[in-house]
Amino acid sequence: MKQQPIGVFDSGYGGLTILKAFIDTLPQYDYLYLGDNARSPYGPRSFETVYRYTLQCVKWLFAQNCPLVILACNTASAKALRTIQQVDLPLINPQNRVLGVIRPTTEKMGALTATKEVGILATAGTVLSGSYLIETEKFYPDVKVYQEACPMWVPLVENNEYESSGADYFVEKNVNNLLAKGEHIDTVLLACTHYPLLKNKIKKYLPPEVNLLSQGEIVANSLVDYFKRHPEMESRCSKQGVVKFYTTDSTGDFDDHAATFFGKSIHSEHVSIE
Ligand code: DGL
Repeated sequence: MKQQPIGVFDSGYGGLTILKAFIDTLPQYDYLYLGDNARSPYGPRSFETVYRYTLQCVKWLFAQNCPLVILACNTASAKALRTIQQVDLPLINPQNRVLGVIRPTTEKMGALTATKEVGILATAGTVLSGSYLIETEKFYPDVKVYQEACPMWVPLVENNEYESSGADYFVEKNVNNLLAKGEHIDTVLLACTHYPLLKNKIKKYLPPEVNLLSQGEIVANSLVDYFKRHPEMESRCSKQGVVKFYTTDSTGDFDDHAATFFGKSIHSEHVSIE
C-alpha cells in the first residue's frame, strides 16, 4: 500500500497551533492541513451543522488518500467525532481512522490535578456538548470539571486583537467567572485551538500555582503513543517532511493569518467543499 500524508482538519486557522506541535514532535511525516475558513467559526453552530461540515471535510481528506485524519478542532471533536467514528467510518472507509483532541487532553488533565478540580475554557459549542465532562467522568470519575464559555476569544484572536488591552477585559472576566465556579481548581485547559495565542494574558489572571495546559504538545505526544500502539497505521503514513495547506476560503487571507498561528509564513491552495 502506498504511504500517504496525515490529514489535519480544523474549522479555520486554529488547528495550525496543533499542526505546529505535530511538526515539532513528528517532523518526519507528511501532513495535509485543511481549514474550512469559508464556514468558520464552528463554535456557535448546531450539532447537525458541525457534524455535516466536518464529515464533508473528512471525506475530502480521505479522497486525498489520507489514511489518518486528526480533528484538530475542539468543536468538531465534540460534536462530530463520535458519530463519524461509529457510524460513518465503517461505511465509507473502515481501514482509515479519525482521531480528535478531547480524549488525549482529558487524560493528561485528569492525571495532573491534585485537588481533583479542573477548569475548561472553550467555545460555547464545546461547553454545551458536555464532551469534556463525559470523557472525564469515564477516566477520572472523582475529578470535578468546571466549564466557562468564552465566545469573544476566537473573534479577538482572528481580528488580531489578542495582545490589545481590549482583550484583557474579556480574558479577565472569563477567567474570574471560571475561578468563581470552582475554588479549588488547580488545572486549567485551553480547550480551543485559538486560545494559546491568549496564553500570556490568561496567565496574568490565574493564580500562579494553577497549571495552564495548551493542547498542541499533549495531542502531539498522544499521536506518538498512538503510532506505537498502531504500527499498521504508522506504516501507512508517508515520511518526507512535506506539509501542504488547503483552505475553503480566500488563500490570500489564509496565508496572511496563518503565520500568527503557525509561526511562519505559508502558501495555501483553495478547495471547494460542500
Ligand atoms: N477551532 C475551534 C475550536 O477549537 C475554534 C474556532 C471555531 O469556533 O471554529 O473549538
